[in-house]
Amino acid sequence: MSRKPLIAGNWKMNTTPQEGAELARGLRSLLLDGPAVDVAVFPPFLGIASVVDTLKATDIVVGGQDLHAQTGGAYTGNISGPMLKAAGCGMALVGHSERRAYEKESGEMLAAKVRAALAAGLTPIFCCGETLEQRDAGQALDVVRQQLAEGIGALTGTELQRVVIAYEPVWAIGTGRVASPEQAQEVHAAIRAWVGLNWDAGAARAMRILYGGSVKPANVRGIMSEPDIDGALVGGASLKADSFAAIVRYQESA
Ligand code: 13P
Repeated sequence: MSRKPLIAGNWKMNTTPQEGAELARGLRSLLLDGPAVDVAVFPPFLGIASVVDTLKATDIVVGGQDLHAQTGGAYTGNISGPMLKAAGCGMALVGHSERRAYEKESGEMLAAKVRAALAAGLTPIFCCGETLEQRDAGQALDVVRQQLAEGIGALTGTELQRVVIAYEPVWAIGTGRVASPEQAQEVHAAIRAWVGLNWDAGAARAMRILYGGSVKPANVRGIMSEPDIDGALVGGASLKADSFAAIVRYQESA
């Protein structure tokens, strides 16, 4: 079976609402003909409204970079799944390594956020990945499997069908040090095998697993040529319309 690739741009804490709309206008015109892959962008919360408006006539999905586990209430500074949905979002990132590291998000909290995203009708992109120390200690696969078990391990098969996994080795994020296609493939294959073991072969075959970490126009083809890599979660290179559009069009470059 073939899994439709998904190329997603995580803008992180970059772009004002005006700059986000400008970037979205650039993408709209560069991707006018409807690319062969699914495309999503994750602006900061404040930019979601203007980006949703700019992209409303396109197939580009807009998502939140995070969401709170509760639907509403006394949680100052937070944004809920229903709010994202009402603003026009279709997806939400959960468990990005920057939130695990800087906001101290625990596995238990991330499991609740995955459920909150599903309950709000959003597709969660569940992020996992090891640090350099963990890789050097030979723990990469164990760390990733542990993160997955904590975050999505208790989902039913039906719930799991609505989840996307992103493998983002921490040492490759924002460092210019991309994982080799073989390194990424090894972990992606292990993730797919883990899904097969915990649910079934059909769930494993259907699961979309994205790679993230220093993806650029120059390296995306190599990464996407691996059998278990179904897309990319792009940080820095998603902040310029031309480089993100070139990544989206990786199949067209010679
Ligand atoms: P970079 O592409 O800037 O390395 O960021 C990757 C990332 O963290 C996407 O979520």
